[in-house]
Amino acid sequence: MSSNFWDERYLKDEYVYGKNPNEYFKSKIDILKPGKILLPGEGEGRNAVYAAKNGWGVFCFDFSSQAKIKAEKLAKENNVHINYITDDVNNINYEIEFDLIAFVFNHFIISENINPYKRITNFLRKDGNLILELFSKEQIEYQKKYNSGGPKNIDVLFDFQMIYESFPNFEAIELKKELIELKEGNHHIGYSSVIDFFAKKK
Ligand SMILES: C[S@@+](CC[C@H](N)C(=O)[O-])C[C@H]1O[C@@H](n2cnc3c(N)ncnc32)[C@H](O)[C@@H]1O
Repeated sequence: MSSNFWDERYLKDEYVYGKNPNEYFKSKIDILKPGKILLPGEGEGRNAVYAAKNGWGVFCFDFSSQAKIKAEKLAKENNVHINYITDDVNNINYEIEFDLIAFVFNHFIISENINPYKRITNFLRKDGNLILELFSKEQIEYQKKYNSGGPKNIDVLFDFQMIYESFPNFEAIELKKELIELKEGNHHIGYSSVIDFFAKKK
């Protein structure tokens, strides 16, 4: 989906995935010592603001300029600072090494030549952590039954094989496929099949 699609989605005043952090993200960041976090495709800032409120130095990006406007507004409402850049996952560059990277419902296109997940995790330091929650390929069925959200293109939905291929230099602390009930604004709502991955870079 293009950046125009996301700009349009974020144009309304409402926060489409809500203002609270994703639950899996929260459950893992809550047990880590604050440092520098990178949030790719961060959207309207719910996870970035939660991290900043908990003492993390927050860096995030998204190719939607409307996402940045909403995220910075949410940061201001909460009296915190986040470093937000408008850029594409296949173009962004950082001079910084991060302690934590979190992919929350970031379904990027993996091509033969470019794997955005591999590219982005190059910015994570050795022994740094990764938190990921993405829709599994089975979400195609749950979308039909419950209209619970996620991309309609099965190629960008995840399975364990894609985890192994995208994150070869990680030691898994937790890897599971789960059926959960999402309650994230108006776009992630109802029974959904997700893959959760919490890992450490080797
Ligand atoms: C489902 S939303 C999730 C937003 C956020 N992570 C959250 O959980 O609230 C996916 C986000 O990825 C962004 N995105 C998609 N493709 C991208 C790309 N190629 N480069 C940068 N951002 C992208 C979209 O603009 C959108 O904000």
